[in-house]
Amino acid sequence: MSVSEHQDIINQANEAVAARAKEINSGEYLLHYHLTPPANWMNDPNGLIHYKGEYHLFYQHYPYGDNWGPMHWGHAKSGDLAHWEHLPIALAPSEPYDLGEKDGYGCWSGSAIEHDGKLFVFYTGHVDANDPKEVQCMAVSGDGIHFDKFAHNPVISNSPDGECFGFRDPKVWKRGEFWYMVIGSGKDGKGRALLYRSGDLIHWEFFSVAAESDGTQGDMWECPDLFPLGDKHVLLISPMNMDGTKNLYFVGDMDYETGKFQPEDQAKLDDGFDFYAAQTFPDSQGRRIVIGWMDMWGSKMVSEKRGIYGAMTIPRQLLLTSDGTVAAKPVPELESLREQGSEYRELFLFGDEAIVLEDHVGGGSAEFILEMNLADCSAEQLDIKLCSSENELEETLLRYVVNENTLYVDRDRSGIGDGGISAAKLPDSHDGRLKIHAFLDRSSLEVFVNDGLRVLSNRIYPRSKMDRLHLTSIGGPATIHSISIWKLKNIWK
Ligand code: FRU
Repeated sequence: MSVSEHQDIINQANEAVAARAKEINSGEYLLHYHLTPPANWMNDPNGLIHYKGEYHLFYQHYPYGDNWGPMHWGHAKSGDLAHWEHLPIALAPSEPYDLGEKDGYGCWSGSAIEHDGKLFVFYTGHVDANDPKEVQCMAVSGDGIHFDKFAHNPVISNSPDGECFGFRDPKVWKRGEFWYMVIGSGKDGKGRALLYRSGDLIHWEFFSVAAESDGTQGDMWECPDLFPLGDKHVLLISPMNMDGTKNLYFVGDMDYETGKFQPEDQAKLDDGFDFYAAQTFPDSQGRRIVIGWMDMWGSKMVSEKRGIYGAMTIPRQLLLTSDGTVAAKPVPELESLREQGSEYRELFLFGDEAIVLEDHVGGGSAEFILEMNLADCSAEQLDIKLCSSENELEETLLRYVVNENTLYVDRDRSGIGDGGISAAKLPDSHDGRLKIHAFLDRSSLEVFVNDGLRVLSNRIYPRSKMDRLHLTSIGGPATIHSISIWKLKNIWK
């Protein structure tokens, strides 16, 4: 189709979203400071980039319903990673390689780069009825808002593997004279990251299988991302069919001569239930930022039929720690969301008796930071309950068990969403310090332990807003060195 026909399809989709958005002004589970679509469906973050001084985030979007469907690329931007503004849809299915007749088609996930002042995006054209059904495509924008699909798409039309389980989610970056692209795939029951190389962004040659599952790490690697961090490289993937593990990273070394990534250690970037398809990008301050989809395939889609489904996590900065693992810390710009706050110091918990804090948790969108020294704790466990004064049956429990050195987030009594207990064991070398930094939004809870050494992201759907924190030390007394609580702003008002 012509450029203007693609634009017509986009205009129609924008109108559908705007009409639906007008009807949803006070949904009870709407998030206050997370990025969600204006209306209807969102999954993976795509095309994350710091372009001409602004952060751009595209996302998998179905503009005609709050369910997954033919994928478009929704678009938002931010000056500071904390306040977001919606922009028009960037890509819609319009060509034989991304448009089909039934549900199984669309502009699937991908990434963005800047070249000659222009914004280039790479995505997978997916059409179930085609063979091959997944091909890699490019689109270009001069203003960062309107995109023209490359006239000679696809830029990669066949997997080197022939028969394979998936060939999608291109992530592009530059190193030296070459552009590199890693693509997620799977063969013979093993997920793999395929590496391509190009001198001009148009002609791509297959370079190598950069990395492959050892047989236990999933049979298809969605949304692979390969990037330098400190003096190492990290490969981040979203594995399919890996026993409950939905995100995984490897720290290792990348050999650009052979195109091989040599993994050394592996771990999860997030131990919660709702973190998937994460993508990273470098910003102008030299930081490596990660954002994930804060939902999960197969989970109970509580907000279905409420007009919006899907959200992004808050942005986190990735850091290589001294023990060779990757920490993910909330970016400091999020402090600009703080409204009223209060701080308590040297809170003594007698054991088995709750201290109730009600400051600023009321609106259901709040942040708190609790710090303690475990030397000041003779308790067996510390419980932080997020509760509602209106509904005593509902609570979300954060429980730190001292002898296990593990933080649990228990959402079995959180409300109408999925239950389940997620757990993060802290590294043994964490020097007796416990810092729990939590971001609560109306229907989400992201918990960062010891400056992002461990992270747990979960959706929760309490019927009544949580307005209280209960602190209890169980099996002995404990002193909380400090706890600060802030109400966070609603960026959408
Ligand atoms: C991951 C994913 C990607 C795909 C996209 C489709 O959540 O399955 O592999 O490109 O979603 O929406």
